Amino acid sequence: MNRLILLLLAGTSVALARQTAPQFPTLPPPALPTGFTAPTGYGDSIYPLLGDAGLDVTHYDLSITSDPRQDAIAGRAVLSVTALRDLGQISLDFAGPKVLGVKLGGEAVRHAQVGEKLLILPSTPVAAGTAFTLTVAYAGTPALHLDPSESDGLRLGWITQAGGSYVLSEPDGAHTYFPCNDVPADGASYSLHLDIPAGYTAVASGVQTRQVTASGRTRTDFELTQPIPSYALTVHVGKLDLETQAGPVGIQIRNAFPVGLPATIKATFAQTPAMLGFLAGWFGPYPYPVYGVAVTADPEIPALETATLSTFPSSQEAPTTALHELAHQWFGDSLRLGDWSDIWLNEGFATYAELLWAQSRGQNTAPLLERWYARLARDPARGLIATRSKQLFDSSSYLRGALALHALRLSIGDEKFRQILSQYASRFAGKSVRTADFLGVARQIGGQNALDAMQPWLVGPALPPFPKDILMQTVR
Ligand code: TRP
Ligand code: ZN
Repeated sequence: MNRLILLLLAGTSVALARQTAPQFPTLPPPALPTGFTAPTGYGDSIYPLLGDAGLDVTHYDLSITSDPRQDAIAGRAVLSVTALRDLGQISLDFAGPKVLGVKLGGEAVRHAQVGEKLLILPSTPVAAGTAFTLTVAYAGTPALHLDPSESDGLRLGWITQAGGSYVLSEPDGAHTYFPCNDVPADGASYSLHLDIPAGYTAVASGVQTRQVTASGRTRTDFELTQPIPSYALTVHVGKLDLETQAGPVGIQIRNAFPVGLPATIKATFAQTPAMLGFLAGWFGPYPYPVYGVAVTADPEIPALETATLSTFPSSQEAPTTALHELAHQWFGDSLRLGDWSDIWLNEGFATYAELLWAQSRGQNTAPLLERWYARLARDPARGLIATRSKQLFDSSSYLRGALALHALRLSIGDEKFRQILSQYASRFAGKSVRTADFLGVARQIGGQNALDAMQPWLVGPALPPFPKDILMQTVR
């Protein structure tokens, strides 16, 4: 179930089982140990204090030792970093486990855990342009971290419950289990080394490269060579059945289901091969060598587009949600946000993919478009660029974003629309994107006409009228 459908169901029992956000008294800002200074953040327009604008982390090598019966992990993270400016201090996002030591290159350096930051003091400043590694060893319980974009207390990050652990991080849960530059603008590739008790299964984003069981422990390695945002990384540990099959055009299909999951739930994901082929027809080649879903033991969580391995609740979902998360592998994971305010580039595109799929199945999509519009007409209207955290996953990001794409499509016809989507996806694969990047491709292929059609949907705030021709199925 995607986030919007959860919103639609708010007030039903689905929403009731969520945790309530605890109300903390206002605390004084944490004191800084001598020598350290307050971090300034990456400067994202929604979450300005996350990340560090001086860092480009290109690769994370993460070793995580865990036992799904215990809410604790031991980790070692090796970050490959390039300094984007002179660094007298380095700040990473990190919450929860205690840091045991930090090395810069081979040298132990001073560090301090202050709030949700890990501050690091190089013995001499790192000069702009220098490539270096940071090694962080840590152990402890990942922090209970609540979703800042929601008011109903969805827990994010590394979560251990019911004899299993899983990771669900959008937008900022990644720093509960590894120190990172926790902004989607700074994408990175990953190597994962997971060490768990034998008898359990670990599965994660990326391609499994090695597995060894010895002395009662199973170690499994995964490699993801394409850069992704930190929130899109996932790990699942538990009593899991792995089901693999060959998919279309050399893509491996890999699903992880909790042992005993009803066949009716597994059946939700039976169309993955057809969906991969269908979306590749609109967006161009699927960006990774493997795809599948990991179903958790929790029936309440919303589905998330974790890279190569989307995460799902154990309750029955619509196949359109499966399609939605798959579409995010292009729009969200491969093309990642340069700034959270551009979230419609993720949610609008994944939602529009649902309409393309429905249409390809011979469905009349007019009622779907009407439902989208009716929902938008009920909600506060805004232009597509989000200005506040609470807007990130609202109906405008999903539905107004999707209708902006529909307006574009109607203005130029299916062939040019397909060209725009696939050119945009291939030009920016593995890169960060802003709204202007998409508009640039739309103008290049569709001309000024294309931009004019999108303009009222983009800018707002007023909801443009529902044009009669928005219901047209195809344009020639
Ligand atoms: N990107 C998700 C979707 O639409 C929605 C979402 C945002 C989410 N933050 C989340 C889901 C955190 C789970 C957890 O597919
Ligand atoms: Zn989505």
